[in-house]
Amino acid sequence: MKVNYSNIPKIIIALDFYSKKEAMKLVDLLNPSLFYLKIGKEMFTILGQKFINELHKLGFNIFLDLKFHDIPNTVFYATQAAADLGIWMLSVHASGGKKMLMSAKKALQSFKKRPLLIAVTALTSLKQEDLKDIGIQISLQDYILILAKLSRDCGLDGVVCPGKEAKKIKLLCGNEHKIITPGIRCFNDSAFDQYQIITPKQAKTFPIDYIVVGRSITCSKNPIKKLNFIIQSMQ
Ligand code: C5P
Repeated sequence: MKVNYSNIPKIIIALDFYSKKEAMKLVDLLNPSLFYLKIGKEMFTILGQKFINELHKLGFNIFLDLKFHDIPNTVFYATQAAADLGIWMLSVHASGGKKMLMSAKKALQSFKKRPLLIAVTALTSLKQEDLKDIGIQISLQDYILILAKLSRDCGLDGVVCPGKEAKKIKLLCGNEHKIITPGIRCFNDSAFDQYQIITPKQAKTFPIDYIVVGRSITCSKNPIKKLNFIIQSMQ
């Protein structure tokens, strides 16, 4: 079957490995013009900026998913430092608040070619009761929508959110506001710690710009076969 990449969400592969060797086993099989790579806290803590440079040399666009959440001044300089790496996208927590989000946005003003700045709304691992634990009484869905709107009002480029909220967020924030959705699972996959999961087939029915796929691929015996299966399911 001929694959059409133009009418499906773009695919960001979460490189959540504990060693470079393991990560490169997968990276070496990927075409940088078809897939984006996401470097999170685990790999960045182990391998740092050198690894980002190496992936850039191979031609990959990198989403640096460090989810900054700190005082505005710290986030300003952290965002600038991240942008200096020449990455394609970076993330902050929307719950850091308006001043923090504006500060992250301001940090990118001096860059000719700046990365996309994306706000995490609610982690896809969170349930309603987890919000109660931290004193938030509103529904998880309202919480996500409030944070999505805040990110749009602060001039960010988009949000990370559960797929099921994508439609409402596009209506509220406009079609230009990018939607990035993790928690992608095929039918037989384990959910692991994720709660808000959707299948690749469902992802195609929502207005999602990018899906983030991690363990569905990285825990598979044949990651490329699994990746192809995910792509086929979205055709
Ligand atoms: O392995 P899995 O497919 O669950 O990986 C999801 C990836 O997306 C992880 O790297 C995780 O850090 C990230 N992520 C998430 N939920 C968010 C934001 C990012 O799962 N809200």
